[in-house]
Amino acid sequence: MKFQAIKGVRDILPPESALWNRFEQTAREVFATYGYGEIRMPIFEQTELFARSIGTETDVVSKEMYTFEDHDQVDLSRTRSSLLIWESSQPSFGDIYWFFKQVRTFQSAYQRLYEKDEVPRTPDNDSNRQNLFNLIDREAGRIERLARANSFRGRAKEMFLEQQIIEAELPELEKWAVEVIRGLHTVKLGNEITLRPEATASVCRAYIEHGMQTLPGNVKLYYMGPMFRRERPQKGRYRQFYQIGAEVLGQSDAPAIDAEVIEMLMVFFERAGLTQTRLAVNSIGCKDCRPKYVELLREKLREVKDKLGTDSQRRIETNPLRVLDSKSPDEQPIIETLPRISDHLCEACREHFAKLQGELKLRGIEYEINWRLVRGLDYYTRTTFEVTAAGLGSQNAVCGGGRYDGLVELIGGPPTKGIGFAIGTDRAILSIQESGEAAAIGGLDVFVAWMGAEAYPASVSLARKLRSEGLSVEIPPEEMKFKKALGLADKLHARYALIIGGDEVASGQFTLKNLATGEQQKLTEVNLIEFLMGSARG
Ligand code: HAM
Repeated sequence: MKFQAIKGVRDILPPESALWNRFEQTAREVFATYGYGEIRMPIFEQTELFARSIGTETDVVSKEMYTFEDHDQVDLSRTRSSLLIWESSQPSFGDIYWFFKQVRTFQSAYQRLYEKDEVPRTPDNDSNRQNLFNLIDREAGRIERLARANSFRGRAKEMFLEQQIIEAELPELEKWAVEVIRGLHTVKLGNEITLRPEATASVCRAYIEHGMQTLPGNVKLYYMGPMFRRERPQKGRYRQFYQIGAEVLGQSDAPAIDAEVIEMLMVFFERAGLTQTRLAVNSIGCKDCRPKYVELLREKLREVKDKLGTDSQRRIETNPLRVLDSKSPDEQPIIETLPRISDHLCEACREHFAKLQGELKLRGIEYEINWRLVRGLDYYTRTTFEVTAAGLGSQNAVCGGGRYDGLVELIGGPPTKGIGFAIGTDRAILSIQESGEAAAIGGLDVFVAWMGAEAYPASVSLARKLRSEGLSVEIPPEEMKFKKALGLADKLHARYALIIGGDEVASGQFTLKNLATGEQQKLTEVNLIEFLMGSARG
């Protein structure tokens, strides 16, 4: 048996992980200068939180979430599993009776847990349980009666007649069993939970849970960590991917907040070495003006329905805005003729978007307006934005964000404004690597090539001193031949080899070899440390 990472997920190994660390560290530094604090959140939440926030019709919620029932009812779950796989084609009465007994066991165990509040008592689950139990009870009397008849030990003729009756009833009981199996699928042993596909919903949940609306000023939070979406894996698209996100929550929706969020993002990208980026912004209106635009869009789309692909055709009814996102070459000329949201914004949204652009110009931020930037999650209002980067092919969005006024309220909190973004770390790192900016990061400073038992203690002690100065040092755990040691130092891409033998220890002068140029020099311990520190800084 050979184990491999699951499709769509991967390991991040050195030296690439050093690049990740530096990227994340830069985010921490930049975000701190804008007054953001880190929030660390659970990796899973109630499914309902994501369904409500992101929207049930979105791709993320409707097909990409990793969802499972969270319970510790091992026995009950096993009983249910055995029933769910019950083979139902032409069962004998004995089969039906076995099924019935198991179902009864499940029913009474489930009822006990229900009374102790140990299974979910949501309205949905309540009615599913009730329907299932009614269904089971409906046939209980008949099955028990047939069971008694089945065990009847009378004369041959009577037994024969009983058998006929039982067999006549079997098809109906088989149908009943199939219905019971369907019902068993609907009752929950535990709450449904989901590996987070994104973190804005969790931030809003935490904001409410911890009463953060009482904090002074805007609440500014950032997070980093893995997210999970069951997408088709390709370059820059994974099933476990990483985001660095930031969110601002509070009472104000001033366009200056949007602009500062975008400024921080672009400053960060620049500092992190992601320089070939493009920022696109848009406004998708608010709950007053967007529904009217969506209706208009839907009408226009219906007129051209025949010319659209099946995905877009479906979206006309479910979520027409998403048609604007389509990458299908055939659909592009049609999309260009569709009404644009900018012509249908209400006065307040129009003003907000104009002010945002003024704020971006004030900050010297280059941007373009993309009227088709609608984003794939339902919670957005007004400002949306996306950053794309070079070297990534089709998955070139390295960051997406926008305003989500009303989301906190939607999940049970007070009226709150919000805006934020999430950077796709995997893609950002890929882009940095493609641009060649990544080359200088990490690596080994010094390889200690020691020879002879008398050189060993001094080498160990010197390695420790160099490391305490922050240099990265490799010292072989066993003595190596000189040539082999230098060969390994080379392969490890060490910048220097420090050669320590008996003579060096005796004279207190160590030989330092620059492995790129081949230059050698003799240095005392103090000078050596000074030189290496200077060279590391340089
Ligand atoms: P999103 O556009 O779904 O927005 O994701 C943000 C970024 O995460 C994308 O631009 C992309 O770089 C990265 N990403 C998404 N899916 C994958 C994947 N399967 N593999 C690799 N990278 C991926 C959000 O998640 C929102 N929560 C952003 C936000 C925060 N809006 C307001 N606040």
